[in-house]
Amino acid sequence: MPAFDAASADEPGFGSGSPLLYNLVYCSRAAPGVDDGVVDQIIATARRANPLHGVTGMLVFGSGIFFQWLEGPRTAVQRLMGLIKADPRHLQVVTLSETEESRERLFPSWDMERVEPDHIRDVLADAIDAAEDDNNAAALRTLLIEIETRALLSRS
Ligand SMILES: Cc1cc2nc3c(=O)[nH]c(=O)nc-3n(C[C@H](O)[C@H](O)[C@H](O)COP(=O)(O)O)c2cc1C
Repeated sequence: MPAFDAASADEPGFGSGSPLLYNLVYCSRAAPGVDDGVVDQIIATARRANPLHGVTGMLVFGSGIFFQWLEGPRTAVQRLMGLIKADPRHLQVVTLSETEESRERLFPSWDMERVEPDHIRDVLADAIDAAEDDNNAAALRTLLIEIETRALLSRS
């Protein structure tokens, strides 16, 4: 899975400390009929295509809602987001956070990892611990709050 390493050589800032990374987080509502099988197809596509463009991240799907964390070079993430927005498998795409800064990836080995809603708290808590940068930690907290607000998580 570390295929993004080759692509990272194209990132602006490569060779001079941390690469300049574009990070986009959005949520959306799955279109009628979208089930786990469809989400598996999306993940398969993402795992094929994302390493070619130096994009990494994660996709959460539960209760008919998607959350996706994308990080990579600005042009690659924006181009991919154009494709994703036009995808009829989901609706009402709302961007939650969009930043660009020099930093290391939070999900460097995930070409695109599907995370179950039950596990997202742990994944985000680990990422918040690892985040050295305030903007990143804030984006992760926003994502966690959004996920909790939308009742994707059971409050046991
Ligand atoms: C919620 C959601 C997340 C997606 N995430 C990705 C992704 O990370 N990478 C990717 O290549 N395609 C992703 N796709 C699929 C794209 O929308 C699109 O189908 C894919 O890039 C292939 O497009 P093309 O066949 O027009 O080139 C996602 C689709 C949805 C609905």
